[in-house]
Amino acid sequence: MDSQKSPQFVIAPSILSADFACLGKEVQDVLAAGADWIHFDVMDNHYVPNLTIGPLVCEAIRSYATKNGQPATIDVHLMVEPVDRIVPDFAKAGANLISFHPEASPHVNRTINLIRDQGCQAGLVLNPATPLDYLDHTLELLDLVLLMSVNPGFGGQSFIPSTLNKIAQVRTRLDRYQAETGRSIRLEVDGGIKVDNIAEVAKAGADTFVAGSAIFGQKDYATVIEAMRTELGKSGKA
Ligand code: DX5
Ligand code: ZN
Repeated sequence: MDSQKSPQFVIAPSILSADFACLGKEVQDVLAAGADWIHFDVMDNHYVPNLTIGPLVCEAIRSYATKNGQPATIDVHLMVEPVDRIVPDFAKAGANLISFHPEASPHVNRTINLIRDQGCQAGLVLNPATPLDYLDHTLELLDLVLLMSVNPGFGGQSFIPSTLNKIAQVRTRLDRYQAETGRSIRLEVDGGIKVDNIAEVAKAGADTFVAGSAIFGQKDYATVIEAMRTELGKSGKA
C-alpha cells in the first residue's frame, strides 16, 4: 500500500491514452506533472470489446510509479471476466487498489474479499446502466466506488450527463455511511472528464477523477492538471 495519505481530490490519469512505446517515462512524467494516482485499464476483449494490458505491464511500471520518492497508487480497473483468476496476479504485480464490475463476477462479495485478502484496497465499478443496488450489501467492504461516465471499452468518449445525478445519489449514501461509521469511501468517476467539466463532476460529489485523453492528448501534462485543480478549486467543494 502507498504510504502517502491521499489528498482530498485525486487526479488519476488513465494510461490507456499514454504512449505505450515509452510507458515508464509516461508514468513518471504524469506523476511529476502533479497527478496523484495512475489509473490502469485492463480490458480482455470479452467483458469489453477491446484488449489492453495485464499484470506484466503493471509490474513493469511499478518502479516508475513514484511520487516524492514514495510509491504512488496504481489504481487497477479490471474490465475482465472472470475476475477472480487474475486478482492475485495484479496484487503480486504491485497494484494498490483493484476495482471490478459486478456483472463480471458470479460472487461479488467473494471477489471483494479476495482483493482485500491479497492486501489491496477494493473498488466496485458501476456502468451507466448498472443500478446502485449493488452497493446495498457491499459498502462496508469497499474502499472506493467507481462510477463510469461512459460505457467501458475505449478512451476518448464523451461524458454521459445523467451520471451527475448518479454521483449525487452515491455521495449522499457515502456521507451517510461515513456519519454512521467514521469510515470514508472514495467516489471516483471515469470517462470523458476534461478541464471544462471536472468542476461540475466535483460539485455533484466525486472526489477522484480519471482522465485519459484530456491529459495524455496534450503536450504539457502539468498545464492540464493544474487547470483541472484550478477548476476543482472553483467547485466549492475543496
Ligand atoms: C474506459 C476506461 C477509461 C478511459 C478514460 O473504458 O475505463 O479509464 O481510459 O479515458 P477518457 O478520459 O479519454 O474518457
Ligand atoms: Zn478506467
